[in-house]
Amino acid sequence: MRKKIVLLGAGELGKEFVIAAQRIGQYVIAVDSYENAPAMQVAHESEVINMLDGTELDRIIAKHQPDFIVPEIEAIRTERFYEYEKQGITVVPSAKAANFTMNRKAIRDLAAKDLGIRTAKYAYATSYEELKKGVLEVGMPCVVKPLMSSSGKGQSTIKTESDIEKAWNYAVEGSRGDIIEVIVEAFVNFHSEITLLTVTQNNGLPTLFCPPIGHRQERGDYQESWQPAKVSDNDIIEAQEMAKKVTEALGGAGIFGVEFFLTDEGVYFSELSPRPHDTGMVTLAGTQNFNEFELHLRAILSLPIAEITLERNGASAVILATKQGTNPTYEGIDKIAMLPKTDFRFFGKPTTRPYRRMGVALNYDSVGTPIENIVEKAKSAAALINVNS
Ligand SMILES: Nc1ncnc2c1ncn2[C@@H]1O[C@H](COP(=O)(O)OP(=O)(O)O)[C@@H](O)[C@H]1O
Ligand SMILES: [Mg+2]
Repeated sequence: MRKKIVLLGAGELGKEFVIAAQRIGQYVIAVDSYENAPAMQVAHESEVINMLDGTELDRIIAKHQPDFIVPEIEAIRTERFYEYEKQGITVVPSAKAANFTMNRKAIRDLAAKDLGIRTAKYAYATSYEELKKGVLEVGMPCVVKPLMSSSGKGQSTIKTESDIEKAWNYAVEGSRGDIIEVIVEAFVNFHSEITLLTVTQNNGLPTLFCPPIGHRQERGDYQESWQPAKVSDNDIIEAQEMAKKVTEALGGAGIFGVEFFLTDEGVYFSELSPRPHDTGMVTLAGTQNFNEFELHLRAILSLPIAEITLERNGASAVILATKQGTNPTYEGIDKIAMLPKTDFRFFGKPTTRPYRRMGVALNYDSVGTPIENIVEKAKSAAALINVNS
């Protein structure tokens, strides 16, 4: 049952996915826009291409003739995926899922309009004038995001009318892709936010949910994540129903990171990634019977997953670079290694820039241990590391 997998995007999430695939004898070609990307270091073969270039993508797919295409990022010419599906290649989880989530509009309209799932009030704008109208429609404060962006790029909050022009210009700068369009959505006053990792399976097997993951965001990227997050019974039922609906509509088998805001008035769907989620790196702390990468792989290969169980409480805290550089070295590994119930990953990225995620610190303890304590320990562990470059 050795399958050939083309992994599109070779970052730290891809790296853990490749390791999971290697462990059960799969064959992986890792693709990214630069050489020696994390997942390439553990794959059988690698390719360096611009994944937004459809011709380049076609060339790689024709060359390797994979059984599976596994996207790890959004910035891919996903329109081509429908054609690959026609050729009999399985796009993970489906061409539709990858294509709908590369643009915030498709997935938001699917959830809010087609499926009637609760989201923040929103509008779209293709110009500064339209944005002014949109802000009136959804009210202030509100959040502006380019439709094609991730990691908080080009995203800002409008509190007063005088912020609108700044927000438009910032979104234009942070936008990826050829069309400049933004979504403006009402600011949701959430008390917490979670990722609900949702696993869809082939052969009529049920959709499974991981225990909810809490996280804290700064500058558009997560800083700490923990599992399990405290979520009321009502909220978890509501979130699971929403996640089931939207993942079913997208189709295919694999893991989805479904993001929700929890408020006093209930759960709001925010966005979704049809692949392992960065906040799900907490599962590398052994919090579950299978980590999120193993779950993704098993679902893709149609290996039945009987259950997902919480084995430990855990937390992850990111290790960031502070400046631009190459061939980074890490100081403090001996200190972090000394800590009990602690682990770490260094991704092996060849270059640094301010705030680039270079590694992650993990802490765990038995189920039932107060999660705040575990988060604090993961944070202190991450703080022991200095990235020099
Ligand atoms: N409407 C909103 N109200 C309040 N906070 C928001 C809203 N939209 C986004 N955020 C905050 O910004 C973070 C990043 O936004 P998100 O839509 O997930 O973009 P990205 O694709 O960059 O992850 C969220 O996790 C949340 O903390
Ligand atoms: Mg997000």
